[in-house]
Amino acid sequence: MKTVSKLPDVGTTIFSVMSNMASEYDAINLSQGYPDFDVPAVLAERLNHYTLSGYNQYPPMHGVAYLREQIVQKVENLYAVSADVNSEITITSGATEALFVAIHTLVGNGDEIIVFDPAFDSYDPAIKLAGGRAIHIPLSSSSFSIDWERVSEAITPRTRAIIINSPHNPTGSVISSTDLDELAKLACAKDVAVISDEVYEHMVFDGQQHHTIASHPGLRDRSFVISSFGKTYHATGWKVGYCIAAPALTVEFRKVHQFVTFTTHTPTQWAIADYMDHHPEHHEGLPAFYQAKRDPFAKMLAKIGFELVPSKGTYFQLATYDALSDLSDLAFVAQLTQKARVAAIPVSVFYEVPPEMRLIRFCFAKEYETLLEAARRLESHFS
Ligand SMILES: Cc1ncc(COP(=O)(O)O)c(C=O)c1O
Repeated sequence: MKTVSKLPDVGTTIFSVMSNMASEYDAINLSQGYPDFDVPAVLAERLNHYTLSGYNQYPPMHGVAYLREQIVQKVENLYAVSADVNSEITITSGATEALFVAIHTLVGNGDEIIVFDPAFDSYDPAIKLAGGRAIHIPLSSSSFSIDWERVSEAITPRTRAIIINSPHNPTGSVISSTDLDELAKLACAKDVAVISDEVYEHMVFDGQQHHTIASHPGLRDRSFVISSFGKTYHATGWKVGYCIAAPALTVEFRKVHQFVTFTTHTPTQWAIADYMDHHPEHHEGLPAFYQAKRDPFAKMLAKIGFELVPSKGTYFQLATYDALSDLSDLAFVAQLTQKARVAAIPVSVFYEVPPEMRLIRFCFAKEYETLLEAARRLESHFS
C-alpha cells in the first residue's frame, strides 16, 4: 500500500537521536531533559498504595477530583489565581497531550499559530496535523526575548493563537510582567487565543517569580495554561499534566481530549494528589534545588571554555563554544558524544531558519557527581 506521510519533513526527534547516540557511545546523557535521580520515595510509595488498593479503573474523563482540587489550591496559593475545580481544569496524559489537544481545539484548515524559535519540537507537527500552519518568529539572539512589534506584524485574520513557553526550553529565558501586558494588549486587540506552556513553572531562579498567563486579567479567559507533573516530581515517564482554561474553552478542549486519550492513568493521579496535599514543600523547594545544580555546573563549563547564556529558569544550560571548535552544533554534539562521551542537544534543530550563532543545550537535572564527571570528561577532551 502506498503511504502518504502527513508529516513528510519530520524524522525521529533530536531527543531520541541523541539519547541513542549517548547509549551507543556510553556517554553521560545531558541531552534529553530528564533527571538521573528518582521520584520522592513517598510519592512512589503512594503510587504503589493506590495501585494495590484498587484505584485502577477509568477515572472521570477530566481527571480525578482530588488532583483537580490540589491544582486549584496550588494556583491559589502560588499565584492568587482562582480556578473552578469542575469547569476549568482537565488532567491530561502529559503536557504533550494538553498541547496537542489545545492546538486541535483551536486550529482548522489553513489557520495559523504563532510560535517562537527556538521552539519545543511538538508544537509545529501538532499544528500541521490539525491542518494549520506554524508562523515562526525568532526570539532575540541576545536575550531570547520576544519582539512584540514583530508579533503584531505577523498576526493575520487566520491567526488563531500564540504559543508562549516560559520558563523557556531550550534557552532558559523567562517572560516578564511587561511581556504579559504586551501579549494581553495584542491578543485582545486581534482576538487571538494563547496557549501557555508552563511545564517548568517551579524552576525559576535567582529569587525571581514565575509569571503565569493565568494571573493576567486580560489573558485569563482566552488562554490554555498547561503544566506537567513530570518535571515537578522528577517523574517524566509518568506523563501526567493538566490544562487550566475558562469554562467555554474547557468545554471544547474536553471534546477533543476525550477522543485522544479519554482519560489519564488513574493511580498516578491519586498518588500525585496525595503527595501535593501532604508535601507542598516539594515544589516550593525546587528553585533552590535546581539552582544548586545550575551554579556549580555553569562554573565547570565556563572553566573549560564554554560561553554561557544565563539560565533564568528550566533545568537547561545553553552554551556557545567558539573558543573550543568551529564545527556546526550538530557536528559538535556528535563529536562530544563520541569522543568526550558527554551528550548534549544542538539548538539549531529548534529553529525553522537557524541563526548564525552556534549553541548547544546541556540538561543539569542530574546528580552532582554526574555533572562533575561530565565536566571532567569535557575538560580532558579539550585539554
Ligand atoms: C517546553 C516543554 N513542553 C512540554 C513538554 C512535554 O511535557 P510532558 O512530558 O509532560 O508531556 C516538555 C518536555 O520536555 C517541554 O520541555
